[in-house]
Amino acid sequence: MSEVILAIESSCDETSAAVCIGDVIKSNVIATQQIHSKYGGVVPELASRAHQQAIAPVVMEALERAGVTKADLTAVAFTQGPGLLGALLVGASFAKSLALGLKVPLIAVNHMKAHILAHFIENPKPAFPFLCLTVSGGHTQIVRVDDYLDMTVLGQTKDDAVGEAFDKCAKIMGIPYPGGPIIDKLAKEGDADRFEFSKTDMPDLDYSFSGIKTSFLYFTQNQSQKNTGFVEENKHDLAASIQKHLIGMLTDKLVLAAQREGISNIAIAGGVSANSELRQTLIAMGEQNGWQVFIPKFEYCTDNAAMIAMTAYYQSQQNDTATMNVSPMPRLKF
Ligand code: KG4
Ligand code: ZN
Repeated sequence: MSEVILAIESSCDETSAAVCIGDVIKSNVIATQQIHSKYGGVVPELASRAHQQAIAPVVMEALERAGVTKADLTAVAFTQGPGLLGALLVGASFAKSLALGLKVPLIAVNHMKAHILAHFIENPKPAFPFLCLTVSGGHTQIVRVDDYLDMTVLGQTKDDAVGEAFDKCAKIMGIPYPGGPIIDKLAKEGDADRFEFSKTDMPDLDYSFSGIKTSFLYFTQNQSQKNTGFVEENKHDLAASIQKHLIGMLTDKLVLAAQREGISNIAIAGGVSANSELRQTLIAMGEQNGWQVFIPKFEYCTDNAAMIAMTAYYQSQQNDTATMNVSPMPRLKF
């Protein structure tokens, strides 16, 4: 009899629940919170309340779509971190209560590992070892993956995440949160070579995105003083130029990591891996460098519980279950 795992994701502004039977995802329901767009970023208190409102209906729908009932569940998994404490608490408490009531094991999942294991939801699946560039609103990491649960962070951002840089530059342009996907759209009709911004070079495989964001801010402020319509008139070129810089920073280090580790299986994961320019650039780089490139489907790039279920499945194979006093860890490390 296969494992039937219900997984819950509530680390940021998506309330999601998924069911897997064995290693096959049967449902993946995602409720995205709309409330944050007018505030220019996720408001933690509002996120917690929205999770509280959404979680029961989202879980019920995930069970229904998978064609299972609560009684079929053999384990309940939840995102332990990293993420917003209040948001994580909602998912953790719900999962704990359900596991306790059903007398089934509880599985605590690391959200960043789960982004990487989203690659095992569908074919083609990367062979080990592979490198994964994990790029989200909270993280930017290059990870070496030697097995499902054997991962090493080779380099990471020392300040802002790349998704944060996309969102902050978008906010400077007056674009509502999350601005990353809108920058992506605007950039399609822009000249990426029109504007230059200065960036901070970091040693080894680490990143820094706060410098380029500040450079973008000063540049647009300066130009807007001369012409108040500057941002609106040049939004396509501004979006294309900042996007080109950010992606260039990401891929430069990825090339270095691939050379250093001697690995040619290259994957991307996390919300920013939905970026169309990053996806295209990576495919082109794969052809140039002889890499095999793995890019997740759009629905598995941004936050979702299918990736939590996948990770929980591999953890369950190793009897990696949590005790009932487990608690959310906003800064959970690998
Ligand atoms: O992984 P994710 O859904 O949540 C976190 O764990 O942070 O990532 C969200 C981030 C946001 O910063 C959002 O702007 C960015 O991913 N993002 C994009 C695109 N789609 C989502 N950034 C650039 N281009 C996109 N198409
Ligand atoms: Zn995420």
